[in-house]
Amino acid sequence: MADLREIDTAKPVPRHVAIIMDGNGRWAQQHKLRSRLQGHEAGAESVRAALRACDALHVRYLTLFAFSYENWKRPKDETDGLMRLLSRFIEDNIGELMERGIRLRAIGRLDLMPADTRAVLDAAIARSRGNAKLDLVLALSYGARQELVDAARSIAAAVQEGGLSPAAITEQTIASRLYAPDVPDPDLLIRTSGEFRVSNFLLWQISYTELYVAPVLWPDFREEHFYDAVRDYQRRDRRYGGR
Ligand code: IPE
Ligand code: IPE
Ligand code: MG
Repeated sequence: MADLREIDTAKPVPRHVAIIMDGNGRWAQQHKLRSRLQGHEAGAESVRAALRACDALHVRYLTLFAFSYENWKRPKDETDGLMRLLSRFIEDNIGELMERGIRLRAIGRLDLMPADTRAVLDAAIARSRGNAKLDLVLALSYGARQELVDAARSIAAAVQEGGLSPAAITEQTIASRLYAPDVPDPDLLIRTSGEFRVSNFLLWQISYTELYVAPVLWPDFREEHFYDAVRDYQRRDRRYGGR
């Protein structure tokens, strides 16, 4: 596994890394724990490890898929537990986020989240608004198709009001109506737990993102795994359809 010294800083380092943090349930099962929630709980340290790696490599944006729109289909004890863990993670880490210049943001259908979790999240977002070293974007209650539906509704409303003609709609019109329009597209997307699928994450934004699948389950993910992914990324030739 790679350590930091093996990253060639003369080569491009991704400016925006996105991670599908998968495998918590399997990790709990593997460790013969009673509840999947214990796997989710263990995943908090992996988030901290990813933040340390971003810090070391000067990654500017980190987007984490923490809870999908479709994850609401899971049993209520699991979704309640996940929301509780999220509040706790924010409360336990906001001091450190502030110290390290990390701005917390969130994308997704946040109106579906419980009011108490939402309050903790909103407070941390407001408090860290002035930080500019790293944007930590949490995808919560997030689905890329829902994001595109919301963008389509906003465009349709603008057309109906007469401010926009259909012929004037461009890629930029759509991109500017996504949940975090100022965040550049991810350069690198990592999915843990060895699954080769995108699961409704950032469909618009990953058109030319480099994909990396790590076999490790999310609670076992550490800086070295992040560096492995970056090292792999540095070997890619990004052509964007050109030659
Ligand atoms: C990822 O772990 C966390 C969430 C989706 C919230 P999973 O809970 O999907 O764990 P596996 O994939 O079942 O192992
Ligand atoms: C994707 O993982 C969502 C998150 C990591 C939050 P899932 O475990 O929900 O995805 P599927 O069901 O394996 O596609
Ligand atoms: Mg999963």
